[in-house]
Amino acid sequence: MRNEIRTIGIIGSGQMGSGIAHVCSLAGFEVLIHDVAEDRIKSALATINGNMARQVASQKITESDRNAALDRIKPAPDLDALTAADLVIESATEDEAVKRDIFASLQPVLKSTAILASNTSSLSITRLASASAAPESFIGIHFMNPVPVMELVELIRGIATSQETFESAREFIARVGKTIVVAEDFPGFIVNRILLPMINEAIYTLHEGVGTVDAIDTAMRLGAHHPMGPLQLADFIGLDTCLSIMQVLYEGLSDSKYRPCPLLVKYVEAGWLGRKAGRGFYDYSGDTPVPTR
Ligand code: CAA
Repeated sequence: MRNEIRTIGIIGSGQMGSGIAHVCSLAGFEVLIHDVAEDRIKSALATINGNMARQVASQKITESDRNAALDRIKPAPDLDALTAADLVIESATEDEAVKRDIFASLQPVLKSTAILASNTSSLSITRLASASAAPESFIGIHFMNPVPVMELVELIRGIATSQETFESAREFIARVGKTIVVAEDFPGFIVNRILLPMINEAIYTLHEGVGTVDAIDTAMRLGAHHPMGPLQLADFIGLDTCLSIMQVLYEGLSDSKYRPCPLLVKYVEAGWLGRKAGRGFYDYSGDTPVPTR
């Protein structure tokens, strides 16, 4: 019998990991947050603090909710601390070799009843599970960015995932207050299978000179009521992540319609990775983002 989930371990304190820590702690879970460098954990805690302050300002949560939630998040610079976790969510970089190394290091640490989840946005859950010690306790739990705002979580079973693991993950997500969609273990699952080809097409539209950055984003914001234009969204997600998802779709579905746009490849090669790098389809060095094309 599986223990009740009380403590969540989070590996990777980037954009997604800090967002997941944010919503888990507000939902009352104890949170242990691990990263390779301690200053990355510190900067994640500062981000969480700032984002919770925004929620206090707009009266979504109270000051005391915020303080209590922040108290529930503990840095775990040493992976061994995750032995206390009932559920570990891996939210490291979207690189299969990195994730496999993490699962191997977790093997002697995790308690036998723990569930191991990956927040991967496109990699095969069955293949990742095969690198874990207990594939029946492995599942895909895919949050959307920004995690505190987006209502959805995709839940993906690997071929070996047990029904018990699935039900525990479902209960956990319900407690976090998100809506679940169940996706089969296919490249990109549901959201990214649809969203990323749209973004890739927007980059082709730019590459072929059909419109400028501003024209393309304005067209989709005002013409299709998207909250962000596709190029703005690409910068927000990170162009490296966009490219790696397109590559997974292209290779995993063996269909040329998913071919990553050469301009996306070039931007990633240049290190123009979007908002986090200060430059992508927009330049973020000033107060307001400026289109680069
Ligand atoms: N934490 C907490 N609150 C946040 C936040 C964060 N990180 N980011 C925004 N907010 C809050 C703001 O405080 C604001 O709250 P109030 O309305 O109460 O004042 C609200 O969200 C709206 O924010 P803004 O006014 O700053 O700006 P906005 O109206 O443009 O909304 C947005 C921002 C929610 C990000 C919106 O632009 C949006 O929905 N964009 C699309 C995001 C999207 O498509 N995400 C999916 C990406 S794909 C993915 O995640 C999957 C993958 O694997 C790649």
